[in-house]
Amino acid sequence: MKLLMGGTCKKTILSSFLLTASLFAGAQTPMNISVRDTSGPVISRNIYGHFSEDLGRCIYDGFWTGDKIRMDIVEALKKIKVPILRWPGGCYADQYHWRDAIGPREQRKRTVNTTWGMVTEDNSFGTHEFLELCSLLGCQPYIAGNVGTGTPEEMANWLEYLNFNGKSSLADLRRQNGHEQPWNVSFWGVGNESWGCGGSMTPEFYAGQYRRYAEFCKHYPGAPPLKLIASGANSDDYNWTDVVMKNISLHNTWGISMHYYTLVGDWNHKGSATQFGEADYFKGMTSCLRIEELINRHGAIMDKYDPKKKVALVVDEWGIWTDAEPGTNPSFLYQQNSLRDALIAATTLNIFNNHADRVKMANLAQTVNVLQSLILTDKDKMLLTPTYYIFDLYKVHQDARSLSLQFSSPDYTFGGDKIPAVNASASRDSSGAVHISLVNIDPSKKITVRTTLSGMTFKTIQGQVLTSAKFTDINSFDQPAKVKPSSFSGAKKEGNDLVVELPAQSVVVLELK
Ligand code: AHR
Repeated sequence: MKLLMGGTCKKTILSSFLLTASLFAGAQTPMNISVRDTSGPVISRNIYGHFSEDLGRCIYDGFWTGDKIRMDIVEALKKIKVPILRWPGGCYADQYHWRDAIGPREQRKRTVNTTWGMVTEDNSFGTHEFLELCSLLGCQPYIAGNVGTGTPEEMANWLEYLNFNGKSSLADLRRQNGHEQPWNVSFWGVGNESWGCGGSMTPEFYAGQYRRYAEFCKHYPGAPPLKLIASGANSDDYNWTDVVMKNISLHNTWGISMHYYTLVGDWNHKGSATQFGEADYFKGMTSCLRIEELINRHGAIMDKYDPKKKVALVVDEWGIWTDAEPGTNPSFLYQQNSLRDALIAATTLNIFNNHADRVKMANLAQTVNVLQSLILTDKDKMLLTPTYYIFDLYKVHQDARSLSLQFSSPDYTFGGDKIPAVNASASRDSSGAVHISLVNIDPSKKITVRTTLSGMTFKTIQGQVLTSAKFTDINSFDQPAKVKPSSFSGAKKEGNDLVVELPAQSVVVLELK
């Protein structure tokens, strides 16, 4: 199967940089990579972003204990260099009123989270707590404003409260609540899933709402540029992207979002996170790979209105969505996380890396205890999931220059269907080191990858691998380190070639220097 990785590939190859790779199964098959330049687009660190909604046990009983932020979670997330965190939703954003959750905690409003489980919300985690979390993580905040039940005035006031450094009642209220300096929040979502839980709007109606909200979202002196993100399409709703791109004012739009969840079944029968066989594994991988088609097609529509690619495609919700763990509140969306999910994360991140010219932010749903989490907690215990380790391995791509890959992958076949077994991405960082991330999703075949690098030399190879005996393997509170990376000895230099023995169902990240 012939694959061209990355929507920008052809252009990149025609311009100044060419990296051609041929990856074949079996030692007998010839393989070539040639490197001629390094002028691919930069992989924004924000592609490695995360999403933490006020949903289930993500914030309450996750990040937040009721009166403080959990520092064990903060330390784990700092290690993987979380660049940006989205909050308060998701669907919850369009029922959230920021003034309910500022000031003395005991005086905050008690509200009901009607989006997720009808639970009482004490609002002890609000704007100040979220921004404190971001500063502890050293990451940028990305706040989703309320369009569904809010007003342009409410969102404009939130911005003034956070970003105005002068004298005003709202800036003074912020000071009174303990924060003298403005928070200078740059990234703002204008609603969330406005086609659905965010207000069941038509794209024409939403585009009008966006224009109205964007008009009143002001840039305050001394604050960094305001980056507004329009609520984008659900999966393959290309009409949404077309109508919104056509009707909003692009001069005050930094990005438009797209949401895509990997599904094994359908929305009514999503399947178990831990109990599945190869048929479901294959379906999950097929669904995961589909995101590349969506990026290409939404990207092509964006190109019509924005040929210079100034507006970012922001995949601000992605990941695998399965049934909630048995015995947990189904509205809380708590799911376990297996080696399969790590392969999905690695594959998706390879696709984002290869589309770095248009995809400039992405946010995995959701960091702690919800959907494809990095971290699971049980009272004061916590564990790192296989997906966490992918973000640890892949952090080397953050802000590095992408290298385009052209290669032939062997097929992974199941039940008469086939998908590419191997996917990959590569980048060169500011020190000159090249990182190649390779995923073999075939659960039973090893693949030998011979890569001929021309136009660059390297002396050393270091690598790490994430794999496990079964694709259903998980980290549990009984066995928290069952799936974790180890050092990889299956790559060697032959002349100036790189030869990699890629284990079945594995992710390998190599560093060439
Ligand atoms: O991530 C869970 C939910 O999925 C989000 O709240 C919503 O935006 C999407 O439908």
